[in-house]
Amino acid sequence: MNYRLGRTLVSAADIQTRVRELAGAISHDYAGRDLLLLCVLKGAAIFWADLCRGLEIPGQSDFVALESYGDASAPLGRPRFTKAADVSLVDRDVVIVEDIIDTGHTIDHLRGLLQAQSPHSVALCALLDKAERREIRTPVEYCGFVIPNVFVVGYGLDHAQRYRHLPYLATLEPSPPV
Ligand code: IMP
Ligand code: MG
Repeated sequence: MNYRLGRTLVSAADIQTRVRELAGAISHDYAGRDLLLLCVLKGAAIFWADLCRGLEIPGQSDFVALESYGDASAPLGRPRFTKAADVSLVDRDVVIVEDIIDTGHTIDHLRGLLQAQSPHSVALCALLDKAERREIRTPVEYCGFVIPNVFVVGYGLDHAQRYRHLPYLATLEPSPPV
């Protein structure tokens, strides 16, 4: 199956405005606290880069990566870290920076892995929330945009490692053979 870009779902300007709002809210809520932004690779990298530059408070950043459960060999498994945080989470106020919450399985499992490292608090900042797809309830403390059940790429989100570079979010559509 071939794919092509579909319609623009969120423009670059609207993303930038919303990311600044999220950075402002986090700056307000975490003033005077021990903030650790934890970026979930790879999809959240571009979101994190803009979000952290909008913060008005000092904080630390680190990166985690999880095994993908997308392949048939590990259906809805319990993905392990392929990259754990380098810094200690003990007593830290962790804000997970994620690209998109879909069924909720990934973030639910990630919260469990992080809670085991004794942070003071864990909150989630997700650029996108496909709320209607949720199978596991999970709070999204900071949400960029609630979107319908469509596959989206751009602003860090990929299909087969492509389209991450787009400054806007677009749908991906099947492209009939010519
Ligand atoms: P969940 O465990 O079903 O919530 O899956 C979340 C993960 O699925 C995200 O971190 C993405 O890697 C991926 N994902 C879900 N929907 C999309 C999409 O529309 N575009 C790109 N990746 C997606
Ligand atoms: Mg992801």
